[in-house]
Amino acid sequence: MRGERQLRTMVAGEPPAPRTEEARHPALVMQRLHENKLALCAALEAIADALPDGVCRAECLRIASLLVPLLRQAHAYEDDVIFPAFAAAAPDADLTIHRLRVEHVEDESFADEVTEILLAVGHGEPITNAEAMGFMLRGLFETLRRHIAFEREHVLPAILG
Ligand SMILES: [Fe+2]
Repeated sequence: MRGERQLRTMVAGEPPAPRTEEARHPALVMQRLHENKLALCAALEAIADALPDGVCRAECLRIASLLVPLLRQAHAYEDDVIFPAFAAAAPDADLTIHRLRVEHVEDESFADEVTEILLAVGHGEPITNAEAMGFMLRGLFETLRRHIAFEREHVLPAILG
């Protein structure tokens, strides 16, 4: 479809469409998505560090609203664009890709649970078990950071060719 659009644009003599996200190299898009996820991790860590008395309830609501949508967006792009490119560049990577896809599903499920807690705290519920909440938050951001570190080390270099 993009080809047809470009062709029509060229035929019509119109200027090329503005450079969109999808027109960038997939590795650059992936890097930006990773940066967004790492910013989320930092925010989750700040909440965990502030437990229980220093937690900002508005920040909990902000992160609750961003967490799952941002992960879904990043995972969808990796599943649809990055992993096929990785498979083409590294034909023996099937098991690795399978593992990364499974981690995406697990991370989204984990993020759903964390979102519920952040929403509850954000809406004013008392933090009855700060240790358990901190354990969950740390579990999520540490898992996300490990996943990102692996993709940076093994997937990005492969798709950059
Ligand atoms: Fe990923």
